[in-house]
Amino acid sequence: MEIDLNGPISFARFMELALYDVPHGYYMTKKVEPDLPPSDRIGWGGDFYTAPELSPILAKTLVRQVLAIDDQLGHPAQFTFMEIGAGNGTFAFDFIQECRSIDSDFYHRLSYQIIERSPHLQSRQAAKLSEIGEGWGNKHLSWKSSLENVETDSVTGVVFSNELVDALPVHRVRMADHRLHEICVAYKGGHFVECLNHRLSPNLIDYIETHKVALSEAQTSELHLAAEIWMRHVARLLRRGVVVTIDYGHTHGDYYRSDRKDGTFLCYYRHAISTDPYSRVGEQDMTAHVNFSALASVGTTNGLDLIGFTTMANWLIGLGVEELVRDQDQESEDVKALTKLLRPHGMGTTFKVLAQRKGMEPFPLQGLRYRAFFDDAVSSQ
Ligand SMILES: C[S@@+](CC[C@H](N)C(=O)[O-])C[C@H]1O[C@@H](n2cnc3c(N)ncnc32)[C@H](O)[C@@H]1O
Repeated sequence: MEIDLNGPISFARFMELALYDVPHGYYMTKKVEPDLPPSDRIGWGGDFYTAPELSPILAKTLVRQVLAIDDQLGHPAQFTFMEIGAGNGTFAFDFIQECRSIDSDFYHRLSYQIIERSPHLQSRQAAKLSEIGEGWGNKHLSWKSSLENVETDSVTGVVFSNELVDALPVHRVRMADHRLHEICVAYKGGHFVECLNHRLSPNLIDYIETHKVALSEAQTSELHLAAEIWMRHVARLLRRGVVVTIDYGHTHGDYYRSDRKDGTFLCYYRHAISTDPYSRVGEQDMTAHVNFSALASVGTTNGLDLIGFTTMANWLIGLGVEELVRDQDQESEDVKALTKLLRPHGMGTTFKVLAQRKGMEPFPLQGLRYRAFFDDAVSSQ
């Protein structure tokens, strides 16, 4: 084991291995438990569900927004829709089906590119998307395992992710004795245990200074170095278009506020939440809320202009969600699922949408019509 060879590792490295180690990482296999058939990790039979698993409405409304972006881009011969971290492939399936049913010209110009780190999930997505028909899929669908393999300036269109950034490894820090320490992980007596390291690496110091991270005594929180690298890649590969990032998270002031004593790190196992990363390693999901201010500012530094920031509920309402379900039975499962997405003290406000643009003149996005936050909420630090 890496710890036996080199001593304690950073929490970020621990999270990276727990989620993405080949072949034991959480996202690298199906969920297999004694006496139960293997199941997907994401969804009702797994550990957590996501908005696309709940309802096709996120995909259907986003198609409307993407068609408006296509107008702004002047209907390029190839419009790339890049989805990063596509899980079971449910969003992709619903998005492509909706394109087919409402705009056949766009459907034939669409190149749907998936960036998916997990080979197991890539196969899961391919199986789901084969239902669309191999003829279309062979020409219009593609997969890559990492953004590093995507050429600079190669994308004209939209870069989209839902619940990707919260699944990127985070460094954790704690203020102890009025000094910031990095939380590291050791292995003793058959268990993973935490240890504190007061010698912070230059990368961590740089992040803390750039994003003005200040914690109060005994407070623990997260630093999102992997998310920063991810954002830089997105800025690099986009030539012209829009980045839409959906996830749960906060703006800077809210993220590091002093009453958030234990940070935002959480684990999910069979739809139950825990704060213990050292049990069920490789069998439970691990996640931290997104610092949207940091994402927006790294984007700006790397050529992505901030368009706006809002809650998922406002985003869906701005895109006319009510119209889409007006004629449906209000007691149907679809409408009940939608109310979960809109719930003011649930997913509707916990989830946020960050929109950025590159190589395009400013233009209004319908999804940002009703803004819960003004742009300065995300850009102030
Ligand atoms: C929490 S799941 C969300 C899945 C899906 N977007 C949804 O909403 O159901 C995170 C997804 O991101 C993938 N992932 C994590 N890190 C990645 C990376 N660096 N590049 C590409 N995919 C990644 C995981 O394998 C998984 O498919």
